[in-house]
Amino acid sequence: MPCLVGACSGSGEWEGLPPPDTRQIGLYQRACVHCHEVPGSGAPQRGDRTAWSALERQGIAALVRSVSEGKGAMPSRGWCPECSDADFRALIAYLRKAQP
Ligand code: HEC
Repeated sequence: MPCLVGACSGSGEWEGLPPPDTRQIGLYQRACVHCHEVPGSGAPQRGDRTAWSALERQGIAALVRSVSEGKGAMPSRGWCPECSDADFRALIAYLRKAQP
């Protein structure tokens, strides 16, 4: 029973996402990390709950689209031309959560 009444609107779909595997972490370290762990880059930083709780309300599909098309200062596919949509989903799930 993952959701308490009223506590899961907008964030429920995020909870079932698998964590990134080693290959995806490698992609992250090569691409996303150069902006999403650089305060001042303009990118929402990994584990910044204020930033991500606002973003995740758009839903996973919209955020995957932002990355693949590019948004603002983020280039199309976020420096990861070989990432699939499934990779982006796992990496976005990783970005939104502060975890080791
Ligand atoms: C060159 C820097 C750069 C790289 C590399 C990069 N990002 Fe971003 N990212 C940004 C910036 C800047 C924003 C804020 C864009 C805006 O709101 O104008 C952003 C925003 C986002 C957002 C929120 C999109 C939205 O709809 O507001 C997601 C999700 C995201 N990045 C995921 C990723 C992932 C996953 C990767 C790696 C595959 C990645 N980014 C690589 C700079 C980068």
